[in-house]
Amino acid sequence: MGKFKKARGLVLVVAALPALAFESRAQAPDAERGKQIASSHCARCHVIPGRNNMGIGSTPSFKIMVQSKSGDWRDKFEAFFSLAPHPAFVTIKELRTQRSGPAIAAPIVLSLREIDDLMAYVDILAAEYRKP
Ligand code: HEC
Repeated sequence: MGKFKKARGLVLVVAALPALAFESRAQAPDAERGKQIASSHCARCHVIPGRNNMGIGSTPSFKIMVQSKSGDWRDKFEAFFSLAPHPAFVTIKELRTQRSGPAIAAPIVLSLREIDDLMAYVDILAAEYRKP
């Protein structure tokens, strides 16, 4: 009985391997998914190329941001959830960050995987709009 259980466990592991390999390939950042995330979450305030023409007040457009001459524009995208005003409404699942301050905007919950997707999309924007 015990032997049988072990063998069955092994069969399960072996059967799962191709799925795991597939899983890790599927983890490659997905710019298309990043674009969807930006469209559904960030476009509420930011102007995003090809998505909306009007943002909120002084909120910088994605285009302006990727064209920034400062060297840390990409770092800022990668850590946007820790930069004002975002901590008030953005939560990252794995980091268990708590929203801070009053709920001034509808909450956004993202995973680190989704941040990677977002960065893949931002890199495409940068390739398109940044001057060499
Ligand atoms: C409720 C409105 C709102 C939403 C939604 C929002 N942002 Fe912002 N974001 C702002 C404002 C306002 C600023 C400008 C802050 C400033 O200049 O002090 C900003 C600035 C930024 C900056 C530059 C930060 C800095 O300090 O230079 C980045 C990068 C950014 N947002 C990324 C994003 C991304 C990515 C999303 C979507 C996942 C998003 N934002 C969603 C309002 C928003």
